[in-house]
Amino acid sequence: MSEAGALKVVSLLGSLRKGSYNGAIARALPALAPPEMTIEALPSIRDFPLYDADLHASGFPPVVTALAARIAPADGVIIVTPEYNYSIPGVLKNAIDWLSRLTPQPIAGKPVALASGSMGMLGGARAQYHLRQSMVFLDAYVLNRPEVIVPAVQTKVDANGELADKAVRDVIAAQLKAFAAFIRRLG
Ligand code: FNR
Repeated sequence: MSEAGALKVVSLLGSLRKGSYNGAIARALPALAPPEMTIEALPSIRDFPLYDADLHASGFPPVVTALAARIAPADGVIIVTPEYNYSIPGVLKNAIDWLSRLTPQPIAGKPVALASGSMGMLGGARAQYHLRQSMVFLDAYVLNRPEVIVPAVQTKVDANGELADKAVRDVIAAQLKAFAAFIRRLG
């Protein structure tokens, strides 16, 4: 933990889209965090090359090591992602694949919380359960509940594209409070 009770958390976004609804969820996090928690957005994973063991053999791309350097000192990571074809977007999986090959691996032993929004009825739930599977291999500690799963997310943002729905904001605040307690428990 960073200093007397302060929790430094970073968020990782699984969408590259400028108008991303999941981006709106990620942008809402800092204001909804409990007072002792700060949340900073990690840089976009847009420039990660496709994982290729031959490329890896010549070293890790700087974008990968730079992201890992931001994750490593954090007290926790929140992954906010859309669902693509009942799973996580390829770009997010690709970023996880690169990060998973680092030593030390930056997500190992790290508290992780998940959030997703989708235009469909299930709010990206299926993507979250796939993501949980990958997090097992990365040896992360994933918060179970409350889950942040936002169906029909396009109806929950305002005209400026910011997350406006009170019920969703409340569940995010509840998750962040639980995440703070979870991080402290893992100590
Ligand atoms: C989708 N979308 C989608 N939605 C869902 O609920 N389940 C799914 O399996 C999929 N599959 C899917 C595949 C692909 C390739 C695309 C482009 C989209 C719709 C998705 O929820 C919607 O596009 C969101 O707006 C994407 O999130 P961002 O970019 O707005 O954060």
